[in-house]
Amino acid sequence: MGSGIAQVLAISGHEVICRDLSEEVLDAAREGVDTGRFGVRGAVERGKLTSDEADAALTRLTFTTDLDAAVDVDLIIEAIPENLGLKIRFWRDLDEIAPADTIFASNSSGFPIAAMAAATNRAEKFIGWHWASPAPVMKLAEIIRGPETSDATVDTVVRLAAAAGKNPVVVQDNDQNWGYVANRVYFAMVREANRVVAEGVADRAQVDQLMRDCFRWPSGPYGMVAGAGSGWS
Ligand SMILES: NC(=O)c1ccc[n+]([C@@H]2O[C@H](COP(=O)([O-])OP(=O)(O)OC[C@H]3O[C@@H](n4cnc5c(N)ncnc54)[C@H](O)[C@@H]3O)[C@@H](O)[C@H]2O)c1
Repeated sequence: MGSGIAQVLAISGHEVICRDLSEEVLDAAREGVDTGRFGVRGAVERGKLTSDEADAALTRLTFTTDLDAAVDVDLIIEAIPENLGLKIRFWRDLDEIAPADTIFASNSSGFPIAAMAAATNRAEKFIGWHWASPAPVMKLAEIIRGPETSDATVDTVVRLAAAAGKNPVVVQDNDQNWGYVANRVYFAMVREANRVVAEGVADRAQVDQLMRDCFRWPSGPYGMVAGAGSGWS
């Protein structure tokens, strides 16, 4: 997800530093942004970008394993693996070295904003910015505010997402209610589909066919799970 998010923001005119743990991962990310299936060269071929815009976007991207070279920025978007302990350690460390006014945004798929914000001394600058894969294509910008996220932080991230061509929708996450609406509704559907199959009412293929035919969805719940799990390859 990280390189796709970086690509979108670079096309939108921002200088972006991509930081990962190894040069191999960064090489793959650079290649993906350039000539990958959803990269800028493909966007030129599809008439979505001019060649100059693609070149300009690439010059705005830097790739590094050096954390210190990546923290002196206005906004940090985290897209490390979905593991709460990992994310808490990540944000705790970042909070110590990033400038005090840097906004922290997590691309988590479901961890409470308050839990990650509590690892920092900047809960008012902590927010969820949930993207969908592939980031250059999908319009999703689910902006998840925690109990202490400030209006100014929300406004900044909404403005960035809209300017990048996404459809920002701000939702509230708190101690009682899970604020990741897209995934809440999606998993409710998957749970019910699993129940229908477990009861012997219909098999998976039948559920998928019925949902496509009834609601004109491009895919039923099981097709969705397979597609999302494989990055829609
Ligand atoms: N894949 C999706 O469809 C999707 C959709 C929405 C949200 N997300 C969320 O995005 C996040 C990333 O998902 P992904 O599928 O891109 O995972 P991924 O495993 O493909 O990529 C995670 C990257 O983080 C790097 N990393 C690990 N620890 C790091 C650290 N401390 N500092 C910097 N980099 C580190 C890894 O080397 C890896 O390249 C997860 O929270 C996931 O839930 C994923």
